[in-house]
Amino acid sequence: MIECRAPGKLYLAGEYAVLSPGRPALIMAVDRFARVRVTDAAATTVHTDLCAGHEHSIARDGDRVRLRHHDRPADQLASVAAAIAIVERLVRERNLPPRTGRVEITTDLHGTGGRKLGLGSSAAVTVAVIDALARHHELRLPPAHRYRLAMLASMTADPHCSGGDLAAATFGGIVRYQRPDPRALRMPPGWTVDDALHRPWSGLSITPVEIPPGLRIEVGWTGSPARSAERVAVLYSRGGTEDPRYGRFLARSDAAVDRITVALADGDIAAVAAEIRLVAASLATLDREMGLGIMTPALSELCRIAEAAGAAAKPSGAGGGDCGIAVLDAADLDAARAITTGWRRAGIDPLSLALVPSTALASSTAVCATQKGTPA
Ligand code: PMV
Repeated sequence: MIECRAPGKLYLAGEYAVLSPGRPALIMAVDRFARVRVTDAAATTVHTDLCAGHEHSIARDGDRVRLRHHDRPADQLASVAAAIAIVERLVRERNLPPRTGRVEITTDLHGTGGRKLGLGSSAAVTVAVIDALARHHELRLPPAHRYRLAMLASMTADPHCSGGDLAAATFGGIVRYQRPDPRALRMPPGWTVDDALHRPWSGLSITPVEIPPGLRIEVGWTGSPARSAERVAVLYSRGGTEDPRYGRFLARSDAAVDRITVALADGDIAAVAAEIRLVAASLATLDREMGLGIMTPALSELCRIAEAAGAAAKPSGAGGGDCGIAVLDAADLDAARAITTGWRRAGIDPLSLALVPSTALASSTAVCATQKGTPA
């Protein structure tokens, strides 16, 4: 039996900008996880609490995989199906013996009543499925290859996705992430998965960023689940990444991400907070100019309460609901208390989350266990 887990994520800065190849975002892994267990079985099936524990069978069509519960297709599991398909394809291409298995997926990335928190559950599930299936098939894949497989799988479900959530789920810690150019991911006819793993992905950059001990991040959940892809679709329907309003946003976002990276390395929390305020203002301007629906009354209130307590705050991710973050000095316990009390009064749920250090992911035994004494 193989058991793997991958963490959820939050955007510290650079959301929307990261949709453009070569533009950076800072994304942090948080300690809510997708867990995947694979056990040998006569046929491959998928069981997941994302769909009330239903058993999904697999339908194969060439290199494609579809998941079905009885006769109904499970469209919400498209990236899981794509993850299974790409691992199985690599197994075939490497002439390894095919293995079937029961794939069980559980997560603690949802809130009360199973509502989406916006912590990147789909990305964490995709990354954990790839890791677990790769180990089940005894493929020895380094994290960079697992990220690439996850990216190829996710793009079949959402062609616009930046993959920042996949990078955080794969590597942990805080990553400075730049997406690959989608043109570099257009594979020539007859491509193999190993080609995709080894050819250059122009624009891609994933680097770990140090987390200073003095940094505290409070996370508030607005209680309204939001679909990020919808807001991104609005952006593309209104001029997309070529729009000059988006271009002005990009310049401000890039500069802020660069300065936050330096401030994090210096442990200068006041400078991190000042830049977070600039990112929040740039997102608000982009939202106003292009009508993306990033800011909601609950997110504005979340930011106002945190600012009143002396912290810097912003929506995290695509907005429209989900979560916002407040950045403050870890020593300022009064401010932290004022924020969480104020949020609760305003109907915003403070989430108790910790950063998952990247070292935890580097040492696979901490997050991924293989039973029967096989080394992970
Ligand atoms: O809402 P989230 O946390 O899934 O973040 C979306 C971030 C975007 O840049 C808007 C989209 C993306 O794919 O990076």
